[in-house]
Order: sequence, then C-alpha cells, then structure tokens
Amino acid sequence: MKKKILALGITMCMAASLAACGGSSSETASEAGTTTAEAKTEAASQSEAEDKGEEASAPEETAAAELQTVAAGKLTVATSPDFAPYEFYAIGEDGTPALAGFDMALAQYIADDLGLELEVVTVDFDGVLSELQTKSVDLGMAGLSPDPKREGIMDFSDLYYIGGQSLVTVKANADTYNSFESINKPEVSVGAQIGSIQMDLATANSPDADIVALPKVTDIIAELLAGKMDAAYIETDVAKSYQKNYPELEIIMEVPYDQEGSAIGVCKGNEGLLAAVNASIAKAIEDGSMEKFIAEANELASGEKYEGLLDGNGQVQQ
Ligand code: ARG
Repeated sequence: MKKKILALGITMCMAASLAACGGSSSETASEAGTTTAEAKTEAASQSEAEDKGEEASAPEETAAAELQTVAAGKLTVATSPDFAPYEFYAIGEDGTPALAGFDMALAQYIADDLGLELEVVTVDFDGVLSELQTKSVDLGMAGLSPDPKREGIMDFSDLYYIGGQSLVTVKANADTYNSFESINKPEVSVGAQIGSIQMDLATANSPDADIVALPKVTDIIAELLAGKMDAAYIETDVAKSYQKNYPELEIIMEVPYDQEGSAIGVCKGNEGLLAAVNASIAKAIEDGSMEKFIAEANELASGEKYEGLLDGNGQVQQ
C-alpha cells in the first residue's frame, strides 16, 4: 500500500516541533499553534542567516530552477517508516500517527535548502528501492546502506550517519541465543527485512537457520516480542531505539558489515540533484542541524510519546 503524505512540514511541526521546520515553515508552526521558543529562535536565526547573505537565498533559487525533479518544484522522497529513530510514526496526543525521525528532518532541511516543496511517499523498504529503480521519486531516505549491489539502480549521496548492525533476541532467550552458532540451526527462526542488507547478513551468517523475511522492521519486532521469532538482524540504533519502548528486547552482539553508515539514494543519473543533495548534507552536518535532528528523533522515539507499531491498516497498535 502506498500512501502519500502531503504537507509533511505541518504534520511534523504539530507532532514534534521538530526544528527541521525552519524558514517558511516557522509560519506553519505558529499557524499550528506550536509557536514555541524553539520555533521563534528558529525563525530568528533564519532571518539572521538571510540578512547575512545574498548568498543564502540566491543560490537556492538558482538551484531550484536548475534541478530536475520528478514533479516540478517538489522534492519527492520515498521512505519506510518502520525504522526509529531514522523514520517512524510519532503518536500525537490525539493518537494520530505522524511521520518523524532524523531522515525526515533531513529531508525537510534539504527541500528547504533547495527551495523545493517536500513530498514524502511511504512504502515498505523494498518499495523504496523499487521507487528509485523506476525513477518514480527523486530520493530514497530510509537509513539506506550504500550497498554496491544497489549501484545499478540508484546513486548514493555522501554518508550522513554512521551506524552498525546487530543480532537481536528477547531477554528470556538471551542465554540460549548468544552466538552465531547457537542461531544457525534449522529450528531457529531468524528474521530480516525484505530487500535489506540485513537479509544478506542473515544468509551469510545464519545459512542453516529458518530465515524469515518480513516487509517491516516493526513486524519483526512484534514477532520477536510475541515469541514467534527467535532472533533477527536489525540496524543497531534501531534495535536500541525499540529497546527503549520494549525493554524485553536484547541485543546479542554487533554483526560485522563493511558498508557502515547511511546514504541517500538518489534517482540514477540525476547529477545535478546528487551534487545539490551532497551540498545540503554537508551544510546540515556543518551547521549542527544533523546533530540536532538525531537528538530530537532519539528523544521522540522513546518513552510514552511513541508507540511505534502500526497494524495492517496503518492504525496504532495498542
Ligand atoms: N540499512 C539497511 C539497508 O539499507 C536497512 C534499511 C531499512 N530501512 C528502513 N527504513 N526500514 O538495507
């Protein structure tokens, strides 16, 4: 199922007062009734930046005019929001799930920086890969590992985040499943997300296990918690994030993988967009925004504000 989330800026400001909603969306923040000190500071620093620079606004306009995107004036980004703190649903006070996470904050930052309107398309992770392959979107932002096997269907930006890989089980099984050997048996079910590099890690490290491929990481977490799955390969920071809400989860060990870090998947051959995205990433890292997005996403993805699991209809699972 494919859902288009329009006006992401508004949703995000309402859900999280994420500082990603700077610039023009600081108005959105006040419209949405969330004119916090943070939003005001954002607005102030934004206009300061504008004051300082002819440089600040002029290149943005030029960039937007020159950039080729699938929909004129828009930056269309595919994501798979089952991956806290990268991208996930934050549950608002009224119970409504809204997209959040540092990939989403970075997406908004890049769109603002390039003078484009952000449009996010939510699909399962294998859908992010196929949206890029069919050139239906401009970018894939989903904690994507720059796996050389994917180079035929997308270009990769520079890395914007460094993470690692883990093998995960539940506390009750932590003594039984404590090594690759203990897991590599036909009677042991080992999960990984369809299309992900974790699936490669599962086949490489647990070839004799019963490997279970599921479309969403949240499905994998749910199966582990329900005792229907014994272990799973999950990105370390994602496992740690879900562990905050579901302390029964246990990280068995780190799993070696040689493509550490996340990059943005860019529609293949769009050199101009790739260069612009890399410039925006460098700027977000340099001006401290990236660090802020990560801290905010981690904060939001923990505690009672966040439920994390949605049922098949996209409703919050209780
Ligand atoms: N880093 C892994 C990969 O590129 C997993 C990414 C999964 N992302 C997600 N949003 N579920 O294959």
